[in-house]
Amino acid sequence: MSTQAAAAVPQKTPLLQSRLGSFLAVVPLSIWVVNHLWDNLAAFQGAEAWQSSVTQYKHPYAQIATFLIVILPLLFHTGWGVVRLLSFRPNNAAYPYYSNLKYILQRAAGVALIFFLGAHMWLAFLHPRLVQGHAEPFADIAREMHFHPPTITVYVLGVLATAYHIANGLQGFAMGWGLLASERSMRRFEPWSIVIFLVLLAMGWGAIFALYRAGAAYG
Ligand code: HEM
Repeated sequence: MSTQAAAAVPQKTPLLQSRLGSFLAVVPLSIWVVNHLWDNLAAFQGAEAWQSSVTQYKHPYAQIATFLIVILPLLFHTGWGVVRLLSFRPNNAAYPYYSNLKYILQRAAGVALIFFLGAHMWLAFLHPRLVQGHAEPFADIAREMHFHPPTITVYVLGVLATAYHIANGLQGFAMGWGLLASERSMRRFEPWSIVIFLVLLAMGWGAIFALYRAGAAYG
């Protein structure tokens, strides 16, 4: 039994529910997040490029479809994650192994994501559209990133949590679905997991840097 499994209390979630929560975390959630980070790199090319990549939808229904395709799986996965979160007892002091550390960090990152995604979706997606009547303008997010330290701090930490949660989560997913069945294959996947983490981090922090740099012009 792995040290990761040793930290868990046996799951009582029905198989379909536990499989679905795991599957939706990758398809479509993780795929969408990677695409979203990529789109945000358009900030290096300025306001028009960023708005056309991130906030403009070619068709009015595309916005609703995206919202449903992202939000429903996110809500389901969050519920699934919280149930798992409540059913584990940390035993890192007794078993201070690397895999056990990753296990607890996955959960800490999940909790951080609840706060980060709640704030991010309200401030960058819902508030501009529902209260101001338009999508978030480049000038607003770039200005906040440059001149409002709490904003950039939350984004830097939120992207860190996201990159870790997805990179380590993919390893858990591959183990759970039998794609990494042996101890050896798990060990061989480890460097890939670190590469995925670093690439996601570079994409996210790169986009933040581009917004921060552009924000100086809107002071
Ligand atoms: C952008 C949003 C999110 C993405 C892309 C994402 C992605 C993933 C992925 C790929 C996994 C691995 C699935 C598996 O082990 O089969 C995972 C696991 C997990 N997620 Fe998320 N997640 C997100 C948000 C959240 C949130 C908000 C929570 C809230 C608690 C959460 C809690 C968890 C937990 C506890 C696990 C570990 C499950 C286990 O090892 O038993 N996730 N996530």
